Amino acid sequence: MRATIVAVAVFAAVALSGVAEAVDIGKALADAFNPVKEGFDAFGDEVVAAFNPRKSFKLHTLRNREAVCLDGSPAGYWFREGWGDGKDKWLVHLEGGGACYSMEDCYERSKTVLGSSKRWPTEQTRGEPIFSTDSAKNPDFYNWNAVFVGYCDGSVYTGNASEPAVVDGKSLYFRGKSILGSTMAQLNHRQGMLGASDIVWSGSSAGAVATLYHADWLGKRLGPNVETFRAIPFSGLVFSDGPNFQGENELSKMLQWAYKAMDLRFDSPCAKDHAGEEYKCGYPETAYRYIKTPVFLSNSVYDAWTVQNADNISKKTVRANQMNDVIPYLNGQARGTWDNITETKTWSKAGNGAFITSCMTHVGGLKNPGWDGVIVDGRNLRDSISLWMQGEPSRTTRPCQYTRAPPHSCNPTCPPSELQL
Ligand SMILES: *[C@@H]1O[C@H](CO)[C@@H](O)[C@H](O)[C@H]1NC(C)=O
Ligand SMILES: *[C@@H]1O[C@H](CO)[C@@H](O)[C@H](O)[C@H]1NC(C)=O
Ligand SMILES: *[C@@H]1O[C@H](CO)[C@@H](O)[C@H](O)[C@H]1NC(C)=O
Repeated sequence: MRATIVAVAVFAAVALSGVAEAVDIGKALADAFNPVKEGFDAFGDEVVAAFNPRKSFKLHTLRNREAVCLDGSPAGYWFREGWGDGKDKWLVHLEGGGACYSMEDCYERSKTVLGSSKRWPTEQTRGEPIFSTDSAKNPDFYNWNAVFVGYCDGSVYTGNASEPAVVDGKSLYFRGKSILGSTMAQLNHRQGMLGASDIVWSGSSAGAVATLYHADWLGKRLGPNVETFRAIPFSGLVFSDGPNFQGENELSKMLQWAYKAMDLRFDSPCAKDHAGEEYKCGYPETAYRYIKTPVFLSNSVYDAWTVQNADNISKKTVRANQMNDVIPYLNGQARGTWDNITETKTWSKAGNGAFITSCMTHVGGLKNPGWDGVIVDGRNLRDSISLWMQGEPSRTTRPCQYTRAPPHSCNPTCPPSELQL
């Protein structure tokens, strides 16, 4: 649980630094970055590790000098080789971690592991169940080649400024789009992904948002033998173009700032359709409408990051006499998110799937119990992804709504809320 709460705190600190309570950002980032050891059957994983030397991921930095982190250090990824019938299959996962929303903010981030590779470990293990090498726990991906891409550009893998910005005499690089392209190229040519038969591109939070933005663009850069290329964004639908609980639309201003300052590059046809207002392609729901790559959404319509940062609802920001309005507001947002995504052609297109919960978690699908313990329509996420991977229809129905009376939560298999309201 600890890592989860830290992760939410990181987002709060990063997203609304002027608003959120002071936290030790450096420490929080470092904590959030370290592989999660608790709560993932740590003992079971240790046993597997003892018999499987392939368990650990090794760092590879990018050779393209344009593909750099905020501070100009080379970006990179950690790679673990697949085996058996997973040898030609690849799971590529983009790390998340919010974004920076002002030059000051980006400057501060450039001193952390989310803005610089200088303190990245040369080797690491990952605790997320989707990286588990246990075939019972992770039947679809346990023996695939696995890649964990480090997030260090602050621009949701989308910035493409040709010149660095200078803050306090220090250059800041917004090269996220190069990082994505170079990661793909280097995986193809140096790690052997050019021979892949199946690729799943995934990501969490900001990495999931980038997956929605760029999966189609990445899909044009595949090797000749690829039979399936698919996307699984974990908690990518995390903000939208609407008022928060106080009636403000702060994230819209931030997105417009980032679009200009970081030179964000969204792909056609979304960019083309929004000429003059291209920043609007930065809304995950908009990106979802455009994505052509087969996509499986893992999301909550009561996402804990969204509630705290986009909706601006927390113990600190909501007065006691407003508490009665919080649940109806959250239910309205949940309905709105559900309606917005299910009204799209993407939702109903054959080959697409979704597992949408009402748990107040963020990236719940990459933790326990969100991976195999949370049940929606009689099934868990792991089995829902398996069905989708086999080409079967796999979409959950409209999630339940919160009750006014505590404990509010309506799905008893959800873990405790990551937010205290
Ligand atoms: C990014 O910027 C570089 C250098 O300015 C340019 O050559 C390239 O076309 C840009 N990429 C995209 C995707 O716009
Ligand atoms: C639904 O979509 C509309 C139009 O883009 C947007 O203004 C609104 O904020 C969205 N609502 C939610 C809850 O995502
Ligand atoms: C969040 O809520 C607090 C307290 O109501 C308010 O002071 C602040 O301006 C709000 N932030 C945004 C971005 O709306």
